[in-house]
Amino acid sequence: MPAPQEVIRRKRDRQVLTEAEIRSFVEGITDGSISEAQIGAFTMSIYLNGMTTPERVALALAMRDSGEVLDWSKSGVEPRTIIDKHSSGGVGDEKVTLLVVPLAAACGLTVPNLSGWGLDYCGGEMDMLASVPGYDGAPSPDKYMKAVLKAGGAISAPTLQLAPADRKIFKVRDVTATVESVALITGSIMSKKLAVNPSGVVICVGSGTGAYMPTVAHARELAESMSTVATGAGIPSVMLLTDLDAVLGTSVGSAVEMVETVDFLTGKHQDPRTRELVIEVTADMLRIGDIAADMDAARKLAAAKLADGSAARHFATMIEALGGPADFVERPEHHLPKANVIAPVYAEAEGYVSAMNAKEVGLALIALGGGRTRPDDPIDLTVGFTDFCQVGDKAGSTKALCTIHARDQAEWDEAARRIRAAITLSATTPKPLGPIVIERIERHP
Ligand code: URA
Repeated sequence: MPAPQEVIRRKRDRQVLTEAEIRSFVEGITDGSISEAQIGAFTMSIYLNGMTTPERVALALAMRDSGEVLDWSKSGVEPRTIIDKHSSGGVGDEKVTLLVVPLAAACGLTVPNLSGWGLDYCGGEMDMLASVPGYDGAPSPDKYMKAVLKAGGAISAPTLQLAPADRKIFKVRDVTATVESVALITGSIMSKKLAVNPSGVVICVGSGTGAYMPTVAHARELAESMSTVATGAGIPSVMLLTDLDAVLGTSVGSAVEMVETVDFLTGKHQDPRTRELVIEVTADMLRIGDIAADMDAARKLAAAKLADGSAARHFATMIEALGGPADFVERPEHHLPKANVIAPVYAEAEGYVSAMNAKEVGLALIALGGGRTRPDDPIDLTVGFTDFCQVGDKAGSTKALCTIHARDQAEWDEAARRIRAAITLSATTPKPLGPIVIERIERHP
C-alpha cells in the first residue's frame, strides 16, 4: 500500500493516480488509518489539479465499495422500477429530493435514496430530515430496505455500511472549500447512487450563483462526468442541467424547508418553479423506469399523484417507517423546532427583484448557525429564511424580501444586511427567468 502522503504528493504534483492508489487511499479513509488532515490535503489537491476520467471512475467505484451494495433480488420488486434521484447542490434545491422521492414512489417506482448533509453554502436533505423528531437518518441496511419497501421510497444518509467513505470525505469537504470540484462531486454522488443499486438515475446538475457549478459549461462537464460513471456501471442516466441563479422555492434552512415540503405535498403552497422541476425529474424517472411510455404520459401521472394526495401519503409513510411522528404531515409545525426571532426584512427602497446572489443567501444561512464551519459541528435546525421573494416580485415597505428566522436579534440584523446586499432591485419589471431545466443529457449503456 503506498503511503498516504505519497498519493497526496503525486496528486499535488499533477500526476495521474492509478486505480490501486485511489482504492488504497479510500480504504484508508474508511478504516480510519488516514486522518482528516490527510483527507483535507487529498481533496484540496484534487480540487486544484482535477482528475482524468479514469481517475474519477476509480474514485466513485472505490467510494461505492467502501461499504455494501444493496441487494434487491429477494425483495420482490421489479428491478427495472428501482430508480434513484440526486441533486448536485443548490440553495433551496435539496428539498426537491424530499418531494420527488415520495412522488415517484406514489407513481409506482421504488426509490432508495442516499442523500447528504448541507455542504458549504448549499443545504442538505439530511439536515432537513434531522429536524423531524425521531427520524433515523442512518438506519441499518435492513431497516432502510424495509422502509423503502413500505413507503416505496426512503431517504437515508451514507452510513457506516453504505458509502461510508463519502460520509467522511463529505464532512471534510464541507469546511475546507473543496466542494466545487467535478471529480469530488462525481465521486460523492455516484458512490451513493451506485451503493443503493438502482436500475437508473436522474440527477439535477445546477449552475448559477446558487449552485457549485458557476456556468452551464461547468455543469455540463459535471453531468458528462457522472454520466460516464453511470454508463460504466451499466445503468441509464438522465442529467438535467438546471438554472439555479436564484433561490429555489420560498424557504432556505432545515426545519423551514420541511414545512415548505409538507405544504407542497399537501397542495397548500407550491412554488411554480419548484413544481416545474419536481414534475420534470419525476417524469424522467418514470420514463427510464418503464412506468410511463413517454414524457407527456409521465408528467400527467406525476401531476395526478401529486394532486390526489398520494405523494403526501408516501412521504408520511416514509417519515413514520424511519421513526418520525405518525401525524407529521398533518401537523408539521407542532413537531418542528422554531427559532427565537422571526421577522420580515424589507428592502431599503421599492423595486422589482431583478437578480439575486443565491450563494450569499447560503452563506448568510451559515452565519445564522444553519451551516457548519467544523466537520462535526451541530447546526441550528431552526434558522433560515421563509417567504423568499422571487425574481420579478415587487419589494418595498409592504412586501418583504423574506422572513428571517434567527437565534437572536444581533444575528437577525446581520442576516438582514446580507439579504439586502444579495438581492438586486430594479425600477422596471425584469425579464422573467427562463425554464428551470436548461438541458437534458441522457445515456444508456
Ligand atoms: N451532493 C452530494 O451528495 N455530494 C456532493 O459533492 C454535492 C452534492
